[in-house]
Amino acid sequence: MKNFEPEIVAFCCHYCAYTAADMAGSKRLSYPPNVKIIRVPCTGKVDALHMMRAFEKGADGVYVAGCLEGDCHFKNGNTRAGQRVAYVQKILEDLGIEPQRLEMIMMSAGMGERFARTAFEFTEKIRELGPCPVKPIKK
Ligand code: FES
Repeated sequence: MKNFEPEIVAFCCHYCAYTAADMAGSKRLSYPPNVKIIRVPCTGKVDALHMMRAFEKGADGVYVAGCLEGDCHFKNGNTRAGQRVAYVQKILEDLGIEPQRLEMIMMSAGMGERFARTAFEFTEKIRELGPCPVKPIKK
């Protein structure tokens, strides 16, 4: 779709992805303004309803970015988040929505480059998919 600018919601763990976003900023690495960050204390706090709500409110793509495996400050919040993401991907598929619109990503606080690259790659992937079929009509 021509001129389609996807809206992306990124639920970012305070201890890793959010800090990585900060790191990207301090290294002057740019990432697409399409990505709107929601800081959470741990990805384990991101519920399936939060992910679904983001789509309902107009997101074309959503990702949950947590600590690397074994590094979650709350023991296994990132593992639980990964399970919820897989669960919601299945729901999306059942609804006829591409499950690739939702992803679980893991990174450490020092991975500023990875944060910026992920934001670019995910935005491009969603741009190729086009607008989410459940996107509310703007008045
Ligand atoms: Fe980062 Fe749990 S503290 S994912």
